[in-house]
Amino acid sequence: MAVPEKTLFDVERVRADFPILKREIRPGVPLTYLDSTATAQKPRQVIDVMDTFYRRSNANIHRGVHTLAEEATAMYEKGREQVASFINAQSARQVVFTRNTTESINLVAYTWARANLKSGDMIVLTEMEHHSNLIPWQLLAQARGLRLEFVPVTDDYLFDMDAYRELLALEPKLIAFTHMSNVLGTITPAAEIIRLAHEAGALTLLDGAQSVPHLPVDVQSLDVDFLAFSAHKMVGPSGVGVLYGKLPLLEAMPPFLGGGDMIKTVHLRTFSTNEVPYKFEAGTPAIAEAIGFGVAAEYLANIGMDAIAAYEHEMTEYALERLAEIPGVTVFGPSAEHKGGVASFVMDGVHPHDVAQILDHDGIAVRAGHHCAQPLHEKYGITATTRASFYIYNTRADVDKLVEGIYKVKEIFG
Ligand code: ALA
Repeated sequence: MAVPEKTLFDVERVRADFPILKREIRPGVPLTYLDSTATAQKPRQVIDVMDTFYRRSNANIHRGVHTLAEEATAMYEKGREQVASFINAQSARQVVFTRNTTESINLVAYTWARANLKSGDMIVLTEMEHHSNLIPWQLLAQARGLRLEFVPVTDDYLFDMDAYRELLALEPKLIAFTHMSNVLGTITPAAEIIRLAHEAGALTLLDGAQSVPHLPVDVQSLDVDFLAFSAHKMVGPSGVGVLYGKLPLLEAMPPFLGGGDMIKTVHLRTFSTNEVPYKFEAGTPAIAEAIGFGVAAEYLANIGMDAIAAYEHEMTEYALERLAEIPGVTVFGPSAEHKGGVASFVMDGVHPHDVAQILDHDGIAVRAGHHCAQPLHEKYGITATTRASFYIYNTRADVDKLVEGIYKVKEIFG
């Protein structure tokens, strides 16, 4: 796809915002960071706002009447507004702060699903889910006698629409699926999947951990019921994530964790719950992190999610082309058209961990392992892949370094 000039952004300016990119891994060996799918690096705007919070305004939120407490509360709630606007939520009340995507999915499993599903009810997942969108449902299925079914990945690494339609005919109650596989990079046709689910009377939970940082995600146009994502993969801090939900659903759901802030009144034997979203935010939350999250969302929005998606698409195409040139390297995943900025590969005769270790010698950071998606690796008869992933601060030069590094691995292993 040719990327129109005007949709691109100044990558060098973006790179200058990320202090870590100036780091040398060893003297004379600069960092080439290709592991943003695990966690993204942080721009100075995010680091600075968190630093300023701790230096000037640190206090607990929703509790005090003193100036610092009011400032901290306002900054935390501003973070919520910024994140809500990033995903085009109708109301910031639909943004529940959690610890991460995993906790957001568990929240739905422990509240909505426990309250609404009974023995024999069916949940549809896919074969390419991260463990965080498998284990909560396995636990629930074991506890409640639920049935789990899986949409297969097609031979060309896509969501199998035909198999999905067949599963929908069995009247599942929930479709919980990834918007972008963290291994294959496959982008699922979420709007269509959600539309068909609703026609079949099912609710939908979208795992947006990999898509929200990289693609425009609009909860209203998707009409999704629940969306889970994390700050740390979208240039924000770790320790904070979001569960977005449709308001009537959130309002009807029982609370998740009990404790301070999630209550309206408490007696020795009873309590009443606070309003949404506070009902789901028990205990002192990650305050500085929520503030940093808001700034991270704004940082990405200022670049423009369309521009980010177009830029990453172009780089993915380039990476796939370059990797395809190397004999003995197999990349798992669909063509660039259906793929985010992820290249998971195996090399003939070399263990993925060895590949990653040798690349690290040259300052190239990639991940090796099953990437918390063991069933998907099982499907392909492998235990691990080496994964390079790309973000707004990567360039073609980084891809070239990766390719050079892989040739070096080949040399070492003969
Ligand atoms: N889910 C993250 C990854 O894919 C941790 O690396």
